[in-house]
Amino acid sequence: MDFPTFYMDHLAGGRLIIGLIASVHVLINHPLAVGAYPLLAWMEWWAHKHNRPDVDHLAYRITFIVFIVTTTVGAMTGVGIWLSTSLFAPFAIGSLLRVFFWGWFMEWLVFISEVALIMWWFLTWKKADTPEKKRKHIKVGVALSIMSWITMALIVAVLGFMMKPGEWNQTRAFWDAMTNPLYAPQLGFRTCFAFMTGAVFLWFASFFFTRNKGPHWGEGTRLRHWIVYRLSHVVLVSLLGTFLFGTWYWNAVPDTMKANSSVALLTQEFMNWHGQFQSLLGWTIIAFLVVGIGGLGNSFMVPRWALLIPSFLGIWLLGHFERAREFMRKPWVIGEYMYSNGVHKDELAFLQSEGLLKHATYVRHHDVTDANKVEAGQDIFMLACSRCHSTTGLNGMIEKFTAMYGAGKPWDTAGMVLFIKGMHQTRTFMPPFPGNDREAEALVAYIQQLKENPESLQGAQSAGIVVAPTAGDQQ
Ligand code: HEC
Repeated sequence: MDFPTFYMDHLAGGRLIIGLIASVHVLINHPLAVGAYPLLAWMEWWAHKHNRPDVDHLAYRITFIVFIVTTTVGAMTGVGIWLSTSLFAPFAIGSLLRVFFWGWFMEWLVFISEVALIMWWFLTWKKADTPEKKRKHIKVGVALSIMSWITMALIVAVLGFMMKPGEWNQTRAFWDAMTNPLYAPQLGFRTCFAFMTGAVFLWFASFFFTRNKGPHWGEGTRLRHWIVYRLSHVVLVSLLGTFLFGTWYWNAVPDTMKANSSVALLTQEFMNWHGQFQSLLGWTIIAFLVVGIGGLGNSFMVPRWALLIPSFLGIWLLGHFERAREFMRKPWVIGEYMYSNGVHKDELAFLQSEGLLKHATYVRHHDVTDANKVEAGQDIFMLACSRCHSTTGLNGMIEKFTAMYGAGKPWDTAGMVLFIKGMHQTRTFMPPFPGNDREAEALVAYIQQLKENPESLQGAQSAGIVVAPTAGDQQ
């Protein structure tokens, strides 16, 4: 209400953009930054201790790939999350910044040191040519691994908080926000998942660097045995952790949100996919298990292509985990505190009696009249619905009401008003309508007009900013 709305009609408002950027970010962060760096630092240490330059060289070559990907796509998508959330949900990111101010300040310091350590570690690897220098170099790798984990550990506090703020809703205290009920299980789940997928990544990458060739025929095989045998232990242990923490996490999620989960997985029409999701989750675990056990035996028992199966299933699983987590939280952007459209729980009753437009800043009218009904309705759509719905595009009003009334059938105005006023009761993933009766009617007038003239809505970034004159300014 206090920000002009950045809105992209065909992308259901723009939240898909946040989702896409954040998913890519997590898919790089977990396996590579959190999972692979500590495993690579451990390889370097082991090679030093047992005098195995071949293992050291292998670690160096894999680090090169991880270094490139984390400092480019990883870092850019991290910034992209700030950019996209500030555009599409400024009220939510603004609240989170206030609650987690010191957490994010720490995060900033930790992130800067993480980037500096990555540079230092990778770029000085070849220069560490004496035992003293090598020992110091290994410590840089360990410090990097710790910093990478801390960045994730700080952000996971915010993610858990958004779903279940716990005590914070009464105390408003920073430490209650940090130690929300979902924090520990989610952090454990993500940490184990990171090691599991990080190990499979290293395993896969090592195939490219352990080929037998030249005069030292057979050394590639020896090296491959070395790494595959050890990584399969990592896969098996972290698989167990992923499963245990995942179960704990699921049990800590509020029941009302779990009720949303069948919709979360693939929205209403595909509700029956829920069962398929669970069986695919089982397949993911089995795929990692088979690979892990296979690696304990002979490193050639698991061919390169076979590693792609758990990798893709892992990507798929994490993608769905994030999607389900985001969806289950609905109608809240911050659990029991702020709805997805930026309305605070505490101001809902006030807005419903006073009217949503009256105190909104970026609207064309503060009151609904017969003459301005459609325009006022459009502003109400922007404020109350546009964070989840589009007009003519994805998850759009035309699509939703056509599905409700049937193609080619008229839409009943009185019925639509009733639906909107009670939408949070029948569809628990939607927030209550945050306006008065006149405003619900105006919204329906706009939607009816949209049906006749399906013109897509422009956000403030293209339509410009309009501010209604307040009562005193009017002549
Ligand atoms: C928190 C996000 C969110 C907000 C805000 C929201 N909705 Fe929804 N709405 C949804 C979701 C999710 C669905 C289900 C989509 C699906 O099944 O594909 C939905 C479904 C609908 C449907 C179809 C219902 C059905 O039974 O098929 C209508 C109509 C609708 N919304 C109208 C509105 C209107 C009008 C507003 C604004 C006053 C609004 N919504 C605000 C998330 C939201």
